[in-house]
Amino acid sequence: MAVNGTTKADGTTLPDLSHHLSSETRSRTENPMKAIWRLAQETPGLINMANGDPHHTLYPISEITFKVPSVSQADPVRAWRTGESKTQTFISSKDEQCALRLRSALQYGSGSGLPEVREALQQLTHVLHKPLADHAITMSLGNADAVTKCFRLLGDPGDAFLAEEFSFPGMTNAPIAHRIRWVPVRLDKEGMIPEDMDRVLRQWDEGKQGRRPHVLYTIPCGQNPTGSTLTLDRRRKIYEIACQWDLIIVEDDPYYFLQYDKPPLDAAEIEREGFAKAFTRNLAASFLSLDTEGRVMRIDSFSKIIAPGMRLGWITSNSVFASHLENLIDSSTQHPHGLGQAFVTEMLVGKGGWHTDGFARWVKSLCDEYQRRRDFLASLFKAELGSSGYATVEIPEAGMFLWIRINLEEHPRYCKQSTGKSNTLALMKELFERVRQAGVMMMPGYIFAIVDEDNPDAVNDIHERCNYFRTTFAGMEETMEEGMAIFGEAVRAFFEG
Ligand SMILES: Cc1ncc(COP(=O)(O)O)c(C=O)c1O
Repeated sequence: MAVNGTTKADGTTLPDLSHHLSSETRSRTENPMKAIWRLAQETPGLINMANGDPHHTLYPISEITFKVPSVSQADPVRAWRTGESKTQTFISSKDEQCALRLRSALQYGSGSGLPEVREALQQLTHVLHKPLADHAITMSLGNADAVTKCFRLLGDPGDAFLAEEFSFPGMTNAPIAHRIRWVPVRLDKEGMIPEDMDRVLRQWDEGKQGRRPHVLYTIPCGQNPTGSTLTLDRRRKIYEIACQWDLIIVEDDPYYFLQYDKPPLDAAEIEREGFAKAFTRNLAASFLSLDTEGRVMRIDSFSKIIAPGMRLGWITSNSVFASHLENLIDSSTQHPHGLGQAFVTEMLVGKGGWHTDGFARWVKSLCDEYQRRRDFLASLFKAELGSSGYATVEIPEAGMFLWIRINLEEHPRYCKQSTGKSNTLALMKELFERVRQAGVMMMPGYIFAIVDEDNPDAVNDIHERCNYFRTTFAGMEETMEEGMAIFGEAVRAFFEG
């Protein structure tokens, strides 16, 4: 296996990226008990009396049957919802032959996850992204866990990280306590603007501003909160800039499978290459798939495609970063729960499992379902506010969110000074309160704003551009119908009252 700074099979060399590791990461040593555990695993015939591992004969579980929809039917998600679905079962057994026996799944293991599930996800990731051969899979407790661990892996107090100017506070909040500063990059409906990223890095004055940002955190598909999806052209440019300025890209992509308005899949192609490959061809190329240097840490989750309570996801990264992540996990959370790993392994490679093609059939059908919901919510918005001129919306190509622009310039109390400073933030806070009191909750845009500490002037002040609400189409039709009617009325009253 190639490692950073060594030669790949094709003769080219991967750059050594270890200077990106935080001092916390570099000073963390291997958990000595895990080192002994690994030694015991690697030595056949050794009598292991070292680790306090409860013996599997004492586990009060012998078998788990997961009843799931059959993916052999057309549109399995719709059939499942309407109760017309055929079902199939994944069986995890403690002692009988299966893809991941519960005696292993329920035992202590290595921080990076059980080999069976990592192997299954390696195969899936290979079909979807074809990463560099050096890359390794590390299991996580979902993207929130994975992203925050990557921030700790890379960030030193005083470092600055780049992010889209509106981003997901669940993630961007976390490293602030470690004194990481966020630097916003402008975005529009096609995602982050590469020229702005380049401008930020080019204009950076290390004498005044400290170390130039060395990490980019991005949500490339159905960006949370704006719903934007990066075009291929922009992805290529951003990757090039990352190489030029030596950045690590943390690609947080929980909405990757929920990409809409794609052409129908070609039956001959499915026949020839299988469903997963044909489906993947329609999806946007990930940063991981563009990565030739090992500088992308890709973060995937089962939250949006199986269930959030699974608390399971996976990180794909170069092997050096993966081994440091394993050290972090071995000395903190330990590996994710065995039941989730057992489910995923049976699903992807078990005898009665969906396998890669069936899994792709499920997520394609799920994607069709969310596309219907997106269209439904967009049609409600149009009916309520479409012709009012008070609000507008871009239809997102991916994800779970509509990003509704409130056209405050049309509001009778809107005012803007000659300096460029306006009362946008105050009006948005007022509208948020009115909408809430009317009986519906939507996320106000200002909570997602990444504030540029070095650019407090009015033109660059993100609060001048925070006249948005984020709302979701993840819920049921009735909720959307009721909520959008209340929202429409509240917005009209705000402008006309
Ligand atoms: C951009 C982004 N990252 C991470 C997460 C957290 O995902 P998980 O449930 O996998 O931790 C979410 C969830 O909404 C998200 O939108």
